[in-house]
Amino acid sequence: MMDNMSNIANLFKIIEEIGSDKQYGNEKVSQLEHAIQCALLAKKNNENHFFITAALFHDIGHLINNDKEAIKKGIDKKHENSGSLFLSRFFPEDVTILIKGHVPAKRYLVYCEKGYYESLSIASKRSLDVQGGSFSKEEANEFIKQPFMQDAVRLRKYDDLAKIENLEIPNINYFYKHVERSFK
Ligand SMILES: [Fe+2]
Repeated sequence: MMDNMSNIANLFKIIEEIGSDKQYGNEKVSQLEHAIQCALLAKKNNENHFFITAALFHDIGHLINNDKEAIKKGIDKKHENSGSLFLSRFFPEDVTILIKGHVPAKRYLVYCEKGYYESLSIASKRSLDVQGGSFSKEEANEFIKQPFMQDAVRLRKYDDLAKIENLEIPNINYFYKHVERSFK
């Protein structure tokens, strides 16, 4: 229990300290605001603890990688993989697989949802190229058959919406219980 308390404190610190002054890609919100808005959308849509935890930490790979410059230069540092690997020491697959899936979910949605690409922000369109672009029909069919990937697609949609400037949001501790219940 004590261990989990300090683990949560450390994870929150990463989001709060590195994320608060860090812009989210080229978006108008910080990484901290983005993380909280995303988790809030998950909570409002009655997702479970694992999902809410995944939403809160889905971009932690960006923060531990320091890869903002890389995206600008067109290098893909695979923040979804580094983030899920980092979190796998604390959380089960129910959390990490969603994080891993949130980038392919974008490639999936670009293929199969009309108007999705157009709805993306400029920053998100730009990173799509770096991430491999739209899935083909075969890739999309293969992707969505895999476990948890329908959930990853929902996470992706919250992710895309969690970029509202000056939105009033709770403190990160608002999600404490959900994170605590998601530990391995
Ligand atoms: Fe995100």
